[in-house]
Amino acid sequence: MNKNAYLEGSAIPSSLTEAQWQSAVVATLASLNDKPGALLPILHEIQGQLGYVPPESIELIAKALNQSSAEIYGVISFYHQFRTTPVGAHQVEICRAESCQSMGGRALEAHAKASLGVDYHQTTSDGEVTLEPVYCLGNCACSPSIRIDDQTYARVTPEQFDALMEGLKIRSLEVQNG
Ligand code: FES
Repeated sequence: MNKNAYLEGSAIPSSLTEAQWQSAVVATLASLNDKPGALLPILHEIQGQLGYVPPESIELIAKALNQSSAEIYGVISFYHQFRTTPVGAHQVEICRAESCQSMGGRALEAHAKASLGVDYHQTTSDGEVTLEPVYCLGNCACSPSIRIDDQTYARVTPEQFDALMEGLKIRSLEVQNG
C-alpha cells in the first residue's frame, strides 16, 4: 500500500474497512516489529497512515510483539498523541491554562464533554468533532477561549459553545447538500 494512501488531500476516512486497516497494520508490523523498542514507532506509523490506531488492530500488534493487548492499550492510553478513534471533520480545542481556568474554563470543558458525549482526545460518534485540550491560545485577556479549526473564540459561555457546535453541524449539512 502507498504509505500515505489515506492521507492524500486530507482524505482520511472517518471509518476504515477491515481490509484497509489490516493491510496498513500488517505492512507496518512486517517492517518494524524486529526493531528494539518497536512499539512506539509502530503506533506512530499506523496513526500516520490511518489517522488513528484502530482498536481492532491492538490484538494483532500485541501478537507480533509477544505482549498482551492490555499492555499495548496501556501504552496508547499513556501517550495522548495516540488516538483510537478517527479524527473528526473539525478540531475543537478548549484552553486549560490558568487564565481560562480561572474564568470559567473548567465549567466550559465539563459542559463541552457532556454535550458532545466525548472526553478529550475523542471524536463524536457522527465524526464531526474531535475534542482536544490546549494550553494557552494567547487570548488570555478574553478568557475562556476555545479554538475551532483555525479560528479562536473569546469569552465563550456554555450556551455560546452549543451555538458554535450547532453552526458546525449546519455548515456540514450545507456542504453535503451542495
Ligand atoms: S490561558 Fe487561555 S488563552 Fe491564555
